[in-house]
Amino acid sequence: MLFLLLSVTEVLGIASILPFISVLANPSSVQSNEWLRKGYDFLGFTNTNHFLFLIGIGVFFILIIGNLIKAITRWSTLRATQEWGENLGKRLFNIYLQQPYNFYLYRNSSDLSKNILAEVHGITSSVIMISLDLITKLIVSLVILLFLAIMDPLLALITGSILGGTYSIVFVFFKKSLKQQAHMRSQSFADKYKIVNEAIQGIKNIKLVGYEKLYGEYFSKPAKDYASSTAKSNLIGEIPRYAMEVIGFGGILLMLLYMLLNSEKGLTQALPVIAVYVFAGYRLMPNLQSIYYGVTKLRFNKPILDTIHQEMKYAQSMQPSIDSTVIAIPFSKAIRAENISFKYDQSREIIKNANFEIQAHSMVGIIGKTGAGKTTLVDLILGLLSSTSGKILVDDIELIPSNIHAWQKNLSYVSQHIYLCDDSISANIAFGVPREEVDMDKLKHAAAQASLSQFIEDELEQGYNTIVGENGIRLSGGQRQRIGLARALYLNRPVLVLDEATSALDPHTEDDVMTSIHKLNEKKTILIISHKMDLLSKCDSILLVQDGIITVQNKATLYSNLKSIQPEGIPHV
Ligand SMILES: Nc1ncnc2c1ncn2[C@@H]1O[C@H](COP(=O)(O)OP(=O)(O)OP(=O)(O)O)[C@@H](O)[C@H]1O
Ligand SMILES: [Mg+2]
Repeated sequence: MLFLLLSVTEVLGIASILPFISVLANPSSVQSNEWLRKGYDFLGFTNTNHFLFLIGIGVFFILIIGNLIKAITRWSTLRATQEWGENLGKRLFNIYLQQPYNFYLYRNSSDLSKNILAEVHGITSSVIMISLDLITKLIVSLVILLFLAIMDPLLALITGSILGGTYSIVFVFFKKSLKQQAHMRSQSFADKYKIVNEAIQGIKNIKLVGYEKLYGEYFSKPAKDYASSTAKSNLIGEIPRYAMEVIGFGGILLMLLYMLLNSEKGLTQALPVIAVYVFAGYRLMPNLQSIYYGVTKLRFNKPILDTIHQEMKYAQSMQPSIDSTVIAIPFSKAIRAENISFKYDQSREIIKNANFEIQAHSMVGIIGKTGAGKTTLVDLILGLLSSTSGKILVDDIELIPSNIHAWQKNLSYVSQHIYLCDDSISANIAFGVPREEVDMDKLKHAAAQASLSQFIEDELEQGYNTIVGENGIRLSGGQRQRIGLARALYLNRPVLVLDEATSALDPHTEDDVMTSIHKLNEKKTILIISHKMDLLSKCDSILLVQDGIITVQNKATLYSNLKSIQPEGIPHV
């Protein structure tokens, strides 16, 4: 609607030039032109100059209104663009969040942040904005051409085809190059993100090996490609402007001559029409240039659109959104695995036809040499991965996608690799809990169970408010691990899963932590992955993971089994 209003005022602005120049060039036209005379008489003018003055003011007024509408149109497109961009970013972030854990195993994290942050911004500024601009410019140009066609169809047709034709030819000529530049841009943009991410994450290694300069060089190639492809696409978008100015100006000169030769009364009669054409040209040319520029930009940014479109397609295959109010499914008897097998995409079979049972309120150890599949097994029990065949039952209820969240409400987990966010210790222990809902007493209790209280309260000036740095960079490995433990204990859920959760602790601290965990055993089911026999010796039963086969061991069988596999380098007893 606004676009249409814009076109109408644009045309009115151009058309209003006609009477103004007419009177200016030939004051007697006030009397000879029927419309002008009517207006002149109706308004009761006696002086042509006064009338001319009024027409001038009228033209100026239309110009003001036209530009005002232009500004409003621009404002509403800018606002709509930002709103769409914001929604797109939000949607993509949510789609990613709701993907199964498996999705993250095959994606690069810098690629995901690039899509949510940079590419969505690219779509906002380079695709949505340009498309809206393109539509506006297209409508305005068509209306101007229509107006010219009403005045002189042949001339409008010639003007339209020369201008439109030239732009189309230029576009076809550069289409292939644009495609190449577009490809180069996406590739180099992704590489830039990846290299920066890698360098910052791996800064310790880079510094030690002295690769700072090398990483600088790694970055410079994609940076150069990115700059060059963007510059080239901009150039392709702007090249015709200069040629078109020549064509446009030449055209006006030609038209002048054509009018002069064809009109009997010479310049005086031709002038108003010429003025309209010049003014129309002045409006039309930048519009056409913008349309061409927009089309080249859209072609250049097509890969961004394709990427985001592809990511959005996941939305269709997406699991139902996580409902945080899901109530935990009851667990009081046992977790049972029946013939479960698992393989990652393109991996060998990691778990082969496993059968075992974990009794509620028992403490179960998981042992096996490195890479045997212990973490994978736990991820299956946690419902983060789903088995390729077989089933896991909780109190005789089979775990299926629709009850997995309800099962997960029973679980707290300390991963082998603790993630800490760049926030305070308390925010890390109560990870994800809204600040105002954090229960400080519960939090301190969890910290005490993880043998952390003394360190936090005695050694840190800011206590629980101490900021730990990105991924806990300001803490020691053992401190990070204990925050991970405290996080799981704060959740206080019926099942506690520890994946080598005390591996970085000194024997004395580990003992303290294990003593508090042991105390929980009356109320909780505990799964412990460990290589340490003294930890495992306290377990009620042990699962040995060996070449994908899982066997249930008691202490006696485990010892004899360990002897037989010891040469392969497993656990230090
Ligand atoms: N995403 C994946 N895609 C393909 N293979 C994987 C993937 N993750 C792990 N693996 C492979 O699965 C096997 C088991 O890995 P897992 O992490 O379960 O071992 P683990 O017993 O926990 O070892 P560790 O004691 O070193 O932690 C390994 O051989 C590993 O290479
Ligand atoms: Mg592991």
